[in-house]
Amino acid sequence: MKRMSPAAPHRPSTLPIINQRRLMRDLNAIGRIGIGNRGAVTRLVFSVKELRSRQVLIHLMRQAELKIHIDGIGNIFGRLDGSDPKAPAVLAGSHLDTVIHGGKYDGPVGVIGALEAIRTIRENRIATRSPLEVVCFVGEESSRFGFSTLGSSLVAGEVHPRDLANAVDAQGTKLADVLLSLGISPKRLRGLTRNPKSLKAYFELHIEQGPILEAIGKRIGLVTAIAAPSRFRIIFTGQADHSGTTPMEMRKDALVASAQLIEFIEKTCRKFSPMAKGRVVGTVGALKIEPGVINAVPGRAELSVDIRSTSAQSKARVSRMVTKQAQQIARKRAISVEVLTIREEDPVPLDKRLLRVTKEICDEKQVVYEIMPSGAGHDAMQMAKITPAAMIFIPSQRGISHNPLEWTDPDDIGLGTQLLMETMIRVANEQF
Ligand code: GLV
Ligand code: MN
Ligand code: MN
Repeated sequence: MKRMSPAAPHRPSTLPIINQRRLMRDLNAIGRIGIGNRGAVTRLVFSVKELRSRQVLIHLMRQAELKIHIDGIGNIFGRLDGSDPKAPAVLAGSHLDTVIHGGKYDGPVGVIGALEAIRTIRENRIATRSPLEVVCFVGEESSRFGFSTLGSSLVAGEVHPRDLANAVDAQGTKLADVLLSLGISPKRLRGLTRNPKSLKAYFELHIEQGPILEAIGKRIGLVTAIAAPSRFRIIFTGQADHSGTTPMEMRKDALVASAQLIEFIEKTCRKFSPMAKGRVVGTVGALKIEPGVINAVPGRAELSVDIRSTSAQSKARVSRMVTKQAQQIARKRAISVEVLTIREEDPVPLDKRLLRVTKEICDEKQVVYEIMPSGAGHDAMQMAKITPAAMIFIPSQRGISHNPLEWTDPDDIGLGTQLLMETMIRVANEQF
């Protein structure tokens, strides 16, 4: 790729300040949709609550007089034209769906932050050569189908029929059937792909979801790479039996087999925890047992396994070790096991030139930043496959995320949004 031209003369004082009150008002409005006990927010993809949050966003985009486009899966784009109608767009956004019992900032900060950046630009009549777009991607979270970054993967042309085979929700609804109901058949998975030529860059503002920024006292993180996950459904099938009459040595207990595997995953990932080996983290986040009653030996256990690393090699090694161990456990216990891959993705490096631009802007504004990888997955990891992509992190209090206690200081949300706006303006006006 061509290098970016030398930075245009920049006059920070001439750039407007985003409206933090309005930003927080809209973030809180979205945060109230799907709120339950103790402030827990649940907006699973394609649920009524998630659809409602998308409606509110459309309303806010209309108020901001953006040109709205909604694609076949429901990704929402709001566009502010630039001075050059042929120029590719600078896109920024994230997602509004959440995990079960999550917080109010994972996702919405990136969507409402981008909206705030663009409406500030519009109100202040700042001209940009490239058009600016805010995007809300559908289904970034994997909590429902085990399949993450659904909307951005479709936009990037990164969903393949094999990925859908094992993506099923807890009620047995297949993701492939949901897509079909929206007119997206396996043959049409590439029909939503956005032409890379229509894009100049993608930005995502996001809470860090980890403890590092807070621990080192920095308010901004600039992201180098994203640790993409590998995900599996592992199913042990033994035999459901009476808990009172079946002698211990005659049982085929699928849950005890799972317990052994869960411990193995923890121990193995701990061995990979020094950075030098390519840190790997592994989680069994969901476990379904059948028949699931107090007086029966569990005959079937299904585990959801998520393994991540910024090292593709270490991640693949751990995945192989887990598969082998599952087979060994099953053999020893004379039960059966199936290891179903939901999706295996490679870690994604982000764009170095965009990182340099965000660094320059931080330096000019004397904002202290940390250069860091992302342990969490993001829509940016799909968008990076079709356009230069960058991420700006802001601190998460005590590093807590995917939890109702998730919290970020509004001043940090404001600062991240201001940086996002200034970066978008610069990139929209410069040559690549
Ligand atoms: C998204 O939040 C993820 O699971 O990394
Ligand atoms: Mn998340
Ligand atoms: Mn997120």
